[in-house]
Amino acid sequence: MSSNLSVQLAPENPRGLLLDNPVMTASGTFGYGTEESPGFDIRKLGAIICKGTTLKPRDGNPQPRLVETAGGVLNSIGLENIGVDALIKEKAPVWAGWQVPVIVNIAGETVGDYARLAEKLDGVDGISGLEVNIGCPNVAAGGAEFGTSPDSAAGVTAAVRKATSLPVLVKLTPNTNNIAGVAAAVAGAGADAVSLINTIKGMAIDTAGRRPVLGNITGGLSGPAIKPVALYMVYEVAGAVEIPVIGCGGITTAGDAIEFIMAGASAIQVGTAGFNNPRAPLDVLEGIEQFMKKEGINSLTELVGIARSKGGK
Ligand SMILES: Cc1cc2nc3c(=O)[nH]c(=O)nc-3n(C[C@H](O)[C@H](O)[C@H](O)COP(=O)(O)O)c2cc1C
Repeated sequence: MSSNLSVQLAPENPRGLLLDNPVMTASGTFGYGTEESPGFDIRKLGAIICKGTTLKPRDGNPQPRLVETAGGVLNSIGLENIGVDALIKEKAPVWAGWQVPVIVNIAGETVGDYARLAEKLDGVDGISGLEVNIGCPNVAAGGAEFGTSPDSAAGVTAAVRKATSLPVLVKLTPNTNNIAGVAAAVAGAGADAVSLINTIKGMAIDTAGRRPVLGNITGGLSGPAIKPVALYMVYEVAGAVEIPVIGCGGITTAGDAIEFIMAGASAIQVGTAGFNNPRAPLDVLEGIEQFMKKEGINSLTELVGIARSKGGK
């Protein structure tokens, strides 16, 4: 008998968000899913999360925007994207022909931006859900990230919730001292699920040039270097909310993914790992399947949060 890997990420939403399996691509690391990827059958993915999308097209930050660090990558792409109108016109019609759900990641500078984006994307064929990136600077609040405080995170979530009937995932930032409080606040404001973590703020210095490496000075750290931090935050958040938690941050192998699931994640996202190994998301999926077979586990849900008590096997 084959194992059941399906997962419902929006159980309280009338539309639901049912995935065949728990493996998704992380926003900003897999484009729009429409790019040619030889040897990669995107139909096998649980879902695709597209690039961060803003109201207007954006060119992003000055170069250089990507630098490798020990066990990770620092990026300051700055949300380069085609803008929501082009996404609706050019990308959504392609997605509408796919079985695999596509979730659009949205980013704004004001609460109104997020609401407008959600409104525009509501009811568009080919879009199965929204992922709200609250790691963006809130222009009205002097540039603090929306996701650093429970109140401002809840404000964005409530505005998006009001503007759309689509399943709403809220993507949490690790750049706060209260991620569990933020998670509880967005759950209370109508999020169907939370995903975490986004990148951790960091920087690198070019000692010969005596200046920061990145054109934007600071960037966001991702990759294996952040995995223990991400795992801990997933563990914390899974204890603070009743809605599904999606784990992300440094997942490179199936073993990494299973750690997140055992910590309480119902699904996972693979990002930076795809830069070294474009097949990483599918390798992770196949490894989860093998693990379940070997351990005699029929349904993935049996594994979710299984390591949350000290008891163990
Ligand atoms: C180049 C790059 C671009 C990213 N762009 C976005 C984005 O537009 N929106 C977003 O919510 N997260 C974005 N992220 C964050 C990832 O989706 C993910 O949360 C983070 O990289 C941690 O996962 P990883 O270690 O598996 O990459 C980006 C990450 C990278 C490396």
